Amino acid sequence: MASNYAFFVHVITSLICTIFIVAFAGNLYQDVGITWGDGRGKIVNNGQLLTLSLDRTSGSGFQSNNQYLYGKIDMQIKLVPGNSAGTVTAYYLRSEGSLWDEIDFEFLGNLSGDPYIVHTNVYTQGKGDREQQFYLWFDPTTSFHTYSFLWNPAHVVFSIDGRPIREFKNLESEGVPYPKKQPMRLYSSLWNADDWATRGGLVKTDWNQAPFTASFRNFKANGCVLSNGISSCKSNSSSDNAWLYQQLDSTNQKRLKWVQKNYMIYNYCNDLKRFPQGLPLECIVRTNS
Ligand SMILES: *[C@@H]1O[C@H](CO)[C@@H](O)[C@H](O)[C@H]1NC(C)=O
Ligand SMILES: *[C@@H]1O[C@H](CO)[C@@H](O)[C@H](O)[C@H]1NC(C)=O
Repeated sequence: MASNYAFFVHVITSLICTIFIVAFAGNLYQDVGITWGDGRGKIVNNGQLLTLSLDRTSGSGFQSNNQYLYGKIDMQIKLVPGNSAGTVTAYYLRSEGSLWDEIDFEFLGNLSGDPYIVHTNVYTQGKGDREQQFYLWFDPTTSFHTYSFLWNPAHVVFSIDGRPIREFKNLESEGVPYPKKQPMRLYSSLWNADDWATRGGLVKTDWNQAPFTASFRNFKANGCVLSNGISSCKSNSSSDNAWLYQQLDSTNQKRLKWVQKNYMIYNYCNDLKRFPQGLPLECIVRTNS
């Protein structure tokens, strides 16, 4: 606790205010750009809805116009319905360069009625290998659900409909690199990954079902936007940036445990075979002070 407090004090006192804290649930025309797919990605309904599609020739994707250094990003997504086996809908934050940071959601499709897998990963300075996978407690293809990233100096939290499913704590003091210097952009794409996605690649994409379509709406970014190459955030005197200091309270810790107990199907921290030299540091460090 003491070191957390010192850390926040440091954050607050080292603030130089060239950053704008922005909050908007605006128009997708303003907030994102379709980056590939030759017309397969579309913004419709006056900027209220975005659809990505995939067929045998190509998938499609978009990215946010802003880059964030810390942020709380929410988007509602309705995943590819029906037989979506072989398809992957990716939704992630990523910085640039060879030592990039990245925070990933990937939704692995399945045969009709079989469960999607939510695959998550965290890369710091170009190194990932931190997969956790989950089933969902609802059908993600019949309606929109909110998928969120909270990224602040203390932790990265993945949430679905406000329920935390994964927390990656800042354990820099223990020697685990943490994303804190490189601004990240939001990316999303729909593509074919039938060599690995569904039952490890056993079930292939059925192109007779194409085009496959995923839908996105209500993009909300509450973040620190880079300005003049300098990036730090203002003090938390305003309620707009409460997310910057947000920690998991006991209710949310319980909700996180509920998901991990009932819906987690893979956790790299339990995969002793994969790490014969020993589990990654963040899996071993005792984080409860
Ligand atoms: C697809 O369904 C099968 C059978 O229920 C299941 O084993 C698998 O985890 C599901 N998800 C994916 C993406 O393979
Ligand atoms: C920032 O928020 C935290 C948690 O709400 C609070 O304990 C702290 O005093 C706040 N700091 C400032 C400078 O307002």
